[in-house]
Amino acid sequence: MTEVQRSGTGSGPEIENLLAESRAFPPDPAFAAQANATAELYEEAAADPVAFWERRAREKLTWTRPFERTLEWDLPFAKWFVGGQLNVAYDCVDRHVEAGLGDKVAYHWIGEPGDRRTLTFADLQREVSKAANALRELGVQTGDRVAIYMPMIPELPIAMLACARIGAPHTVVFGGFSAEALAGRINDAQAKLLITADGGWRRGKAVDLKSAADEALRDTPTIERVLVVRRVGGAVASSMAAGRDVWWHELVERQPPECLPVPVDSEHLLYLLYTSGTTAKPKGIVHTSAGYLLGTSVTHEMIFDAKPDDVYWCAADIGWVTGHSYIVYGPLANGTTGVLYEGAPDTPDWDRWWQIVEELGVTILYTAPTAIRAFMKQGDALPAKHDLSSLRVLGSVGEPINPEAWLWYQRNIGGGRCPVVDTWWQTETGMILITPLPGVTTTKPGSATSPFPGIDADVVDGEGRPVPLGEGGYLVLRRPWPAMLRGIYGDPDRYRETYWSRFPGMYFAGDGARRDEDGYFWLLGRVDDVMNVAGHRISTIEVESALVGHPSVAEAAVVGKTDPVSGQAIFAFVTIRVGVESADALGRELREHVGRAIGPIARPKYLLFTPDLPKTRSGKIVRRLLRDVAEGAPLGDTTTLADPASWRPSAPVPPELRKNEPAIGLSRIGWMRRSDP
Ligand code: WTA
Repeated sequence: MTEVQRSGTGSGPEIENLLAESRAFPPDPAFAAQANATAELYEEAAADPVAFWERRAREKLTWTRPFERTLEWDLPFAKWFVGGQLNVAYDCVDRHVEAGLGDKVAYHWIGEPGDRRTLTFADLQREVSKAANALRELGVQTGDRVAIYMPMIPELPIAMLACARIGAPHTVVFGGFSAEALAGRINDAQAKLLITADGGWRRGKAVDLKSAADEALRDTPTIERVLVVRRVGGAVASSMAAGRDVWWHELVERQPPECLPVPVDSEHLLYLLYTSGTTAKPKGIVHTSAGYLLGTSVTHEMIFDAKPDDVYWCAADIGWVTGHSYIVYGPLANGTTGVLYEGAPDTPDWDRWWQIVEELGVTILYTAPTAIRAFMKQGDALPAKHDLSSLRVLGSVGEPINPEAWLWYQRNIGGGRCPVVDTWWQTETGMILITPLPGVTTTKPGSATSPFPGIDADVVDGEGRPVPLGEGGYLVLRRPWPAMLRGIYGDPDRYRETYWSRFPGMYFAGDGARRDEDGYFWLLGRVDDVMNVAGHRISTIEVESALVGHPSVAEAAVVGKTDPVSGQAIFAFVTIRVGVESADALGRELREHVGRAIGPIARPKYLLFTPDLPKTRSGKIVRRLLRDVAEGAPLGDTTTLADPASWRPSAPVPPELRKNEPAIGLSRIGWMRRSDP
């Protein structure tokens, strides 16, 4: 295999199993007979991809002004449905009410402590309108950016739709991010208002969001006002700043229940969502209105086979793109009934999700391999205790799914009868791009199968030439698609450089992939310095720069280590300043330090103090070698090191770091000359 495979997530044995996987599951004829998707979609899109999207844009979206041109493609800048106007919130909410579906449930919400709320489309219309009026009262106008930092409560999608209603772009920052991460995003977006909550419930504890928000706001000059939802009441000790902070229940509740949706251009900025790249500064991914709404709603309808009676549960957090596209915009545009759950999957017990599926009669479930593997670890008995027979489609997203987890999911959650759709896409792509179509595609456990109709994906070598079937390479996309990112906020050069310069004329996804003899796509993980930890993208450089921001640290190098549950775990090599004693206490402090700088998800699971780091002549850290050390694999090629022949690690990784449990180690590992004793 090529270098792609060695440097991706998949350098471990899992990938070898994956490539040997030969089981196949043809569609069930009974499912196929009622499926939304048909094989003709591929033909229709292949014949004329632009016309394919144009036709659906006219059918599926409600235009206040029809568009004149379907696509303007000035590589790498795309404009879709040019000249058209619509309102995204109207398409997600009002038109369903006008069509007589006001009493249909839009969201079943379940709080972690067991409290519940049911919102119909009519409720959503009223709440979104009141919130939109409140935003106006707080001085937000069309075009102003609004930051949102909230737990998984109904006010989160309500806030997003309220922004969309008045054409104010939102930027949602995942509630697990730190104050520092929040401040960075607010400042990049130049947001005027922050919508947050006093806290949220997670594993039985109130997470104090407001204090984190207050800390962020010390350093965010553009924020004028803060709108705060009361969720946990007295359980946290935050306070309201006079003149700046206002309670949601005081301001929103007294607003009139009507607010006219503001028609915006197709290419009006709908939202920014920040994601990790290969530098320390997260990128503000730009998504616009009409194309995004079309791409997410068409894929949602076809890939999940969404029907009017479905109870659809995408168990992601809305703070990630999966939640934006497949909890909020795609499903609501289709008028789908959704489920929102606030808390952790293991609270109070590991069968919480299966209880919810049984109680609400969930028919479609969409989650991540890391969750599936965590459930698998708890055994088959917990899902077996519950009646999961309502389920009819299962989805997976966020990382490569290993065949074992795929088969466990299909058997133990899907009862062997549900098609499993492994969906590949990214924050940047906005919508699912590589996926089976249930009822059409013969699936293979571990393969995302083939590009969605109209999507031109390929696997190329280092020179951008398509590789023969059976070989590995880099995943690229050749043709624009409606929900694609329109750029990196405020940085067109970085946009061009990051995605469009590696292979001229092609979008470079940063993922390794291979196509098998049947042409099926198998995703092999990232090929750049981005880790995928429990489905979350974290850049090695972001964690390194957090570590070296600590006064005791001289240098740090971070790699992803294969992990049986989270896919990858963060492994940090740290060299400390002379005079500082390296010890467990410092290791723990550094972990917390990273948690404060980025968020708890970025805390290294393994931390190893070493006297030195391996570097090339130009001073670049050789992560590949460190990856081998972290994996406990035989040491790789050292010819790129500064002094090739004479460099080697002086010792293996200490045993405490080889146990698949969080660990801090102190080692004499040095990248020493062979001649040294
Ligand atoms: C990875 C999440 C394999 C991939 C929607 C991608 C996947 C990154 C899959 C994007 C999949 C996502 N199989 N890998 N089905 N889905 N990925 O931006 O490395 O959080 O580049 O978007 O997740 O992560 P992001």
